[in-house]
Amino acid sequence: MKEHDNFKKQIRSIYNVLLVSCIMIFLVGILFVAYMVSPSSFSFNTDGPDTELVTLPLEDEEDDWDKIEDGIHIRTGLKDAEGLMVVVNNCTNCHSADLVIQNRMDREMWIETIRWMQETQNLWDLGKNEDIIINYLVTNYPSINKGRRENLSGIEWYTLNE
Ligand code: HEC
Repeated sequence: MKEHDNFKKQIRSIYNVLLVSCIMIFLVGILFVAYMVSPSSFSFNTDGPDTELVTLPLEDEEDDWDKIEDGIHIRTGLKDAEGLMVVVNNCTNCHSADLVIQNRMDREMWIETIRWMQETQNLWDLGKNEDIIINYLVTNYPSINKGRRENLSGIEWYTLNE
């Protein structure tokens, strides 16, 4: 009786293996036929027409990154002038450009500030760029305490009532 059961179990497992094999062969067959009928739907070619939909407008994004509007470098707020990108690349890594914009100084003081950052804040040696940076700073963010005051601007004049 027991042997008979074992025999049945063996037959059943062989049958299962055969059944799974048949299903696999059948599926592979379907794929093969489908491939013969239309090979293009199996193509992983990246130049295919489908992939054109995914092209990203990378160039536009790069343009926006260093966009300049009304003479102002939008990302940092710095004035667009000779040496702008050298300043952007060397002076906005550790702190915001506002710190540069808000501190108006003459040449000596700008040099002093840079030396101070080099000695105490790990600012790197600026090499040839130092002159470009200092010229940019002195030209665009000079000291306002010295010399003639800036022209008045943005004043709303009003008429006196008697
Ligand atoms: C390696 C980092 C680093 C870089 C790069 C850097 N700075 Fe600074 N800078 C600092 C730190 C730190 C302070 C102090 C910030 C604070 O007090 O909050 C500072 C402060 C300043 C100040 C204010 C000084 C004061 O007296 O309050 C100015 C102006 C300034 N930096 C300008 C510049 C300019 C111009 C450059 C480009 C040449 C530059 N920084 C690049 C780290 C750096």
